[in-house]
Amino acid sequence: MYIICWRRKKTLFVIFFLPRPKQRKRKTQGCAGSLNLNWNNLRGMDNEKKRSASFSKGLLQSGELYQYVLETNVYPREPELLKELRDMTATHPRAIMATAPDAGQLIAMLLKLTNAKRTIEVGVFTGYSLLLTAFTIPEDGKIVAIDMNREAYEIGLPVIRKAGVENKIEFIESEALPVLDQLLEDIRMKYFKILPGNENGFDFAFIDADKINYWKYHERLMKLVKVGGIVVYDNTLWAGSVAMPEECTPEILREGRERTLEFNKLLAADPLVEISLAPLGDGITIVCTELFIQSLNHFKHVCGGSLFNYCISQGIMKLNKESQRPPFSFKCLVLGFRLLLV
Ligand SMILES: C[S@@+](CC[C@H](N)C(=O)[O-])C[C@H]1O[C@@H](n2cnc3c(N)ncnc32)[C@H](O)[C@@H]1O
Repeated sequence: MYIICWRRKKTLFVIFFLPRPKQRKRKTQGCAGSLNLNWNNLRGMDNEKKRSASFSKGLLQSGELYQYVLETNVYPREPELLKELRDMTATHPRAIMATAPDAGQLIAMLLKLTNAKRTIEVGVFTGYSLLLTAFTIPEDGKIVAIDMNREAYEIGLPVIRKAGVENKIEFIESEALPVLDQLLEDIRMKYFKILPGNENGFDFAFIDADKINYWKYHERLMKLVKVGGIVVYDNTLWAGSVAMPEECTPEILREGRERTLEFNKLLAADPLVEISLAPLGDGITIVCTELFIQSLNHFKHVCGGSLFNYCISQGIMKLNKESQRPPFSFKCLVLGFRLLLV
């Protein structure tokens, strides 16, 4: 503050100068460029531009780098009909929803590594990940594909038919939760031999739908997918917004960001699964359901030490010496135990 005073005759003049208050640093400083948020690049673009900006699915530091990965590793190995479906989808106003091809490539590898035969898909859209799965599983494999909207599926259906894999797909137009509950009910009935059929549940699941229900899907899938099976969750980095301060996150991403943060936290704290978050596409989290040893620990935890020790002493839990696998009696026990949890 400055003060100037002077006196004229009998009057004292005083003038105060107040400096302008320093502008407070805005909390949002540093938002810009804190992440290569490709969503921003897409807003306002017309469909044609969105299509060409295929890096929009990637979380890498530059579009060129993502393009390099796609052009050198992914596109050359992508089956022709899958490419056709991808191109058809690119003209859809919601093309951004389709599974990223680089994430798809890893999903195909996981399907092969686990010899997956029976799979679940939640969120079909035009069917990119569905066709990819149908191509990868064996001839007698089955996919239960759930989507509450058949319209987009119809777009991809001619390509699926052309590929000759429609017989592997059971498409169910519905909200996913009631279908998963019904599948659980069916499996329970099959355990008790009320219904004939497959008792082992599913080998693999790919979840790519409403984030709000991811944890509910997870709870059900842990019972539906066999021990050692794999579940892949898409969009677990939610366009990179999980690492942004809330105030920097575009409005359109905020709710999904919240849900994804919650889901990622819960998953990371689940002791019954192995997890890996791969930064492919929009981020995919690979979850391996209870490994055998974890089943044991869980069994011990829930049933109490004495029952656990009794089982050990009776040899029920000893591994088969030749195969190093648990004996049949133990498998029955685990099966019964899992049933109790269903
Ligand atoms: C991201 S897209 C799936 C993309 C697909 N995996 C692909 O490769 O193209 C999400 C889909 O989930 C579906 N969906 C959203 N909420 C759902 C729900 N509660 N139950 C079933 N489907 C749902 C939408 O209709 C949409 O088709």
